[in-house]
Amino acid sequence: MTSLNRELILKKLAKADRLPSLPAVVGPLLQYLRQPIDSLQINEVTRLISQDESLTAQCLHLANSPLFGFRGTVETVRGAVLNLGMRRMQEIATSCCLINLTPKDCPMDPTVLWEHALGVALASRYFARAVAFPDPDKAYLAGLLHDFGVVMSLWVAPKEFAQAFTQATSGHIPLIEAEQEILGISHPEVGRLLGEKWHMPPDLVQVIAFHHDVEKATAHRALVALIALVDLLCRMSAVGYGYPEDRQVDFCQEPAFRVLLAECPTLTMFDWERFTFEMEAYLVEVQRLVNLVYRRS
Ligand SMILES: [Fe+2]
Ligand SMILES: [Fe+2]
Repeated sequence: MTSLNRELILKKLAKADRLPSLPAVVGPLLQYLRQPIDSLQINEVTRLISQDESLTAQCLHLANSPLFGFRGTVETVRGAVLNLGMRRMQEIATSCCLINLTPKDCPMDPTVLWEHALGVALASRYFARAVAFPDPDKAYLAGLLHDFGVVMSLWVAPKEFAQAFTQATSGHIPLIEAEQEILGISHPEVGRLLGEKWHMPPDLVQVIAFHHDVEKATAHRALVALIALVDLLCRMSAVGYGYPEDRQVDFCQEPAFRVLLAECPTLTMFDWERFTFEMEAYLVEVQRLVNLVYRRS
């Protein structure tokens, strides 16, 4: 049963050239946003986002959230770009594109996926700054995309994935354990296969592939470790796919901690207790925002 599912899934992945049923603008917008930040044009970003009404509304919700740092109200996409700057707008637009990646007839509530993705993205940027990691904006993007394989599994094996998800939720166990049991393949492998096939940047592929097994990362190990720690923190709290995993974690004993320490020596002085406490309030705000943006009922 398990190996049959694995083989079927691998066959489907081999044939997956692109995702069906995305809003038409998402592909060109994501493509455009992959350019270096200083070559992005305000007018083009505004034009692309404004082509789709729901994408525009989603972007404006994010642009008006305190999580993206703007104190005030923005009413247009152009106003958002001008007030927040191109870097924040790049993050916002990419986040909204991601929200639209779940299949329309998704067999589970996708809100929990976006709470987790956005929670890990924002907390990773926050954590990266706190430990003087060299590229906090990259940490945001990597956090946002780290579970890319989860969304892709929903496309290639929706029923089986939903079954694995239910099993993980009811047992309070890590999702990858339930995926291995039911699908015979877990989201890091699904994400890596498609990430490589679709030529995603190598650092993001490393994060997607190894955030549950940091020591196997072959490059960009500090980024992978940083995301792995924040992912774990989120999974132990309010934004871990709607349930906290049932186990005790000592962050300083995690392999990811040792890997990150080599790159960010300030980590030894890091106050985990305070960070965890601050994150609780921060992640509640993430939940509020995602509900505002996504929940339709
Ligand atoms: Fe994951
Ligand atoms: Fe995750």
